[in-house]
Amino acid sequence: MNLFLRIASIASVLSLSILLSFNSNANTSAEKIAERIKATGQVCMEGDDSCGSAAVAAVSGGAARSGEEVYKTKCGLCHTAGVSGAPKFGTADWTDRAAKGMDELLATAISGINAMPAKGLCTDCSDDELQAAIQHMILSLIHI
Ligand code: HEC
Repeated sequence: MNLFLRIASIASVLSLSILLSFNSNANTSAEKIAERIKATGQVCMEGDDSCGSAAVAAVSGGAARSGEEVYKTKCGLCHTAGVSGAPKFGTADWTDRAAKGMDELLATAISGINAMPAKGLCTDCSDDELQAAIQHMILSLIHI
């Protein structure tokens, strides 16, 4: 092999390794970009039970919301200010209502009564969630 060929082959090995190192840099930065742009939270593959189960349960209606949560997101719309005569949170409005007993309150909350819409507009609420929300409102009496 003459000198020229030797230099040429060394040069090609060098350029190959430079190319490879660029390539691996490209991979790393692609990974970094993917890391940076991925949505908040973990990407969860189907069938992987180790992540996202709470979100799946909530979507399918499996995880019960607390009374406070239902109240804050649904019932509070009317019951915080007492819209259209809704018994107001944290006031004696609930004293007479509470006297009816939970069974009756839950039944009217489900069916609706006068200006109170069926299920208090929480169409995806379970009976347990509605009951928890009612309890939360009745317990608000303690704070007056
Ligand atoms: C659009 C307004 C509105 C929303 C939203 C609403 N309520 Fe009401 N609610 C009322 C009104 C008005 C009344 C009073 C009805 C009456 O007795 O004339 C009432 C009354 C009630 C009563 C008393 C029923 C009785 O038998 O005396 C309960 C219990 C109740 N609401 C539960 C809830 C729950 C639980 C939610 C949320 C899931 C909710 N409400 C959301 C307007 C609302």
